[in-house]
Amino acid sequence: MTRTSADHVRIFDTTLRDGEQSPGCSMNLGEKLRVARTLEDMGVDIIEAGFPIASNGDFEAVSEVARTVANSIVCGLARASRKDIDRASEALRHARRPRIHTFISTSPLHMKYKLQMEPADVHQAVIDSITHARNLCDDVEWSPEDGSRTDHDFLCRCVESAIKAGASTINVPDTVGYAVPSEFGALIAMLRNRVPNIDKAVISVHCHNDLGLAVANSLAAVANGARQVECTINGIGERAGNAALEEIVMALRTRHDLLPYKTGVKTEHIMKASRLISAITGFAVQPNKAIVGANAFAHESGIHQDGMLKNAATYEIMTPESVGLNRSTLVMGKHSGRHAFKEKLKELGFDLGDNAAEDAFRRFKDLADRKKEVFDEDLIALVDDTVGSANDRVKFVALQVVAGSKGPQLADLELEIDGTVRDVQARGTGPVDATFNAIKKLVPHTAKLQLYQVHAVTAGTDAQAEVTVRLEEDGKTVNGQGSDPDTLVASARAYVNALNRLFTKRQRSAPPGPAAESAKNVAKGAVSA
Ligand code: KIV
Ligand code: ZN
Repeated sequence: MTRTSADHVRIFDTTLRDGEQSPGCSMNLGEKLRVARTLEDMGVDIIEAGFPIASNGDFEAVSEVARTVANSIVCGLARASRKDIDRASEALRHARRPRIHTFISTSPLHMKYKLQMEPADVHQAVIDSITHARNLCDDVEWSPEDGSRTDHDFLCRCVESAIKAGASTINVPDTVGYAVPSEFGALIAMLRNRVPNIDKAVISVHCHNDLGLAVANSLAAVANGARQVECTINGIGERAGNAALEEIVMALRTRHDLLPYKTGVKTEHIMKASRLISAITGFAVQPNKAIVGANAFAHESGIHQDGMLKNAATYEIMTPESVGLNRSTLVMGKHSGRHAFKEKLKELGFDLGDNAAEDAFRRFKDLADRKKEVFDEDLIALVDDTVGSANDRVKFVALQVVAGSKGPQLADLELEIDGTVRDVQARGTGPVDATFNAIKKLVPHTAKLQLYQVHAVTAGTDAQAEVTVRLEEDGKTVNGQGSDPDTLVASARAYVNALNRLFTKRQRSAPPGPAAESAKNVAKGAVSA
């Protein structure tokens, strides 16, 4: 076990595993690597890179993250089976600091209905799985799934056996987000009091946010002796999500007087990580979200603004700079050049490759020609829209729409599909419907539109529209985002973005072996049909 100071709380980021497995949050390999590098730069202690047995895509992602990351521990998830654990170990072969995280449900409800196993057999599976994992990896973490609803005597017995078998981290999940802080803190205290060998392991917690208590529960656990917290950027994750990394880290930093613990996270990287996740997943951050929401450091009321001007501490408990939100120094306009543009992107926390930066610059020039003032928010929306578009099979080219009260509404659309530009006309009940019908004509698919949402990026009638589109196919959902001063163009971009994500998702969930190739063809068929 790695020993660090007693007040160090390890940050275990599971954005790439629990975060990525939540509806609409899928990422491709390149995106996962970008996230992993960002997390490593940020100082995250452990990166859970995926669930290698789940699919070829997950296996490859864990393997590539393991090859790429040097400083953080790279972790792969496995159920309590030899096959899962072998696959995780194989994916982690090139990791400098590998960790296998194995889990099994221990609550009465899960054992009876989900596993259909007797407690004695679950207990034996804990010992067998950890023993096997320890033969393959020195660093093994064990989780009793649904731990917060597990009988205490049984939980203590399993934890003691897990440590004896070689687990050096015991992670207690509040899988369904059911616990409240006093109860969850007491659960950690109970384990520390009752499990005789508990000092040989780090206690970790993994809280879901179904009641909005994930961060509060995690902090209560830390106050009671937990020294690892599992969390995700922007709090993404199954259902209502996981504890948000930025909230945990900033709470520990800001309230050090009451929570005297430290993390290794460089908090100035928080905004960059948050923007990256939101750009990649298409999950917009709600404006009033703690730490990373657009309004988190905005002051609207006269009384607050007056106080801020006299002394920022009157209404700010942490500085925007401490989370990487720099007060703007560079103003952008149509005369700004490449260099200033790249500097501005850096200031906003974006680190784009040459091609993506060039694409973004072209779109910025176009926007600056159409819009008098280009605000930071405009650039963020524009870059969000550009990130990850290089490998897209379907690209937006042009759109002309006839709208208004006289009807009929008509969309004339051009898309580039696998390198060939094609155009089509379609009618609809309104201009958005006509635009989406045109997309469906060029790219036939069975996915259903689940969400269509528009918001203005800034004030003013020339503001850019940022559109989110959610598509659902065979129980899988994806989000797409698009922005443009023209709401219909933004809508078309968002729909096309969602379709590209759907194709990636289809490919990634293909079974191992030659079938993966046939899945590619299915996507191809859908595009060119
Ligand atoms: O929520 C949960 O219980 C999990 C475990 C696999 C740790 O994600
Ligand atoms: Zn979870």
